[in-house]
Amino acid sequence: MKITLRRMIAGLLLSLPATMPALAAGDVARGKYLVTIGICEGCHSPRDAQDRIIESKRLAGGGRAGGLATPNLTPDAETGLGTWSEADVVEALRNGHRPDGSAVRPPMGIFFYKGFSDQDAESIAAYLKSLAPVSNKVERSPVTAAAPTYPHVDHVAEPDHRDPQSYGRYLTQTVSHCLQCHTPRKDGQIDLTRAGAGGNTYRAPGGGSVVSSNITPGNPDGIAKWTDEQVKTAITKGLRPDSGRIVDVMDFSLYAQMTPEDLTMLVGYLRTLPAVVTK
Ligand code: HEC
Ligand code: HEC
Repeated sequence: MKITLRRMIAGLLLSLPATMPALAAGDVARGKYLVTIGICEGCHSPRDAQDRIIESKRLAGGGRAGGLATPNLTPDAETGLGTWSEADVVEALRNGHRPDGSAVRPPMGIFFYKGFSDQDAESIAAYLKSLAPVSNKVERSPVTAAAPTYPHVDHVAEPDHRDPQSYGRYLTQTVSHCLQCHTPRKDGQIDLTRAGAGGNTYRAPGGGSVVSSNITPGNPDGIAKWTDEQVKTAITKGLRPDSGRIVDVMDFSLYAQMTPEDLTMLVGYLRTLPAVVTK
């Protein structure tokens, strides 16, 4: 009912003069794009023995991230988000509050996802609600520590899509999860004064561990010496200029679906990160 009403109002607004503020309404195609390059399915899908996403359960939860089970994001009424409104999804994504009052804990990246614009958050919600429901029951991991709290976000304006500082930053920081993995922690908190400096340890597929790289211009062995094309190849194919493979912790095949324009914005923004020297 609520959604239908909102869509009706959105329809009405379209017939009003262009100076009227647009009401955010979900765009399913945009939502699909954001979920892909936001690597939501990288965490929210179960994987086979070769660490590949199980296609029939894409986004249906049952993966593990940071020691927690990932929930089913398809609109199945029993085991997924079927009973959630789109506003509930936006609230969980940006503020980490579920309809039952519980908190969504890290590594779900609320710290960065609170930056999703109204339009994009609504689009993600609309896309998730448009998926075919997949029945996949995932037990929520028990609560062992208090979840971090952040100031409540009700409204986030659209970034300027023509400005690398605005939209490039948004893609790097909010949407594509880059800075979540590539920013060190200080006293358990994400230390944005060293954004992109790396140094976090991740479990490598197939065993062992790997440390996230310094992706600021302050790394003389990293992107500072690479051309834009080489940085793009690293992100979308997992290949360094010396042909060495980057350990498969990043979901290269999902990043490969970024539009060329967005990839250019993202790389442009990486070049403007304050240089942090780590060795
Ligand atoms: C790094 C892994 C990771 C990524 C990437 C990730 N999530 Fe999550 N997400 C989680 C985990 C883990 C939980 C459960 C946290 C808990 O149990 O408190 C969760 C919980 C959620 C919930 C709450 C659902 C419920 O039933 O409780 C929603 C909604 C959600 N994520 C949406 C998204 C969307 C949309 C994206 C992409 C923009 C995304 N997530 C990306 C790990 C991730
Ligand atoms: C899940 C965590 C994670 C996410 C998300 C992630 N990275 Fe990485 N990234 C890593 C790790 C770990 C390495 C180091 C792998 C290795 O040493 O082989 C790495 C390596 C790199 C490298 C190679 C750097 C070098 O000097 O060799 C680049 C460039 C890079 N990441 C950029 C990005 C960008 C841009 C994004 C977002 C689009 C991103 N990463 C998202 C974990 C992540």
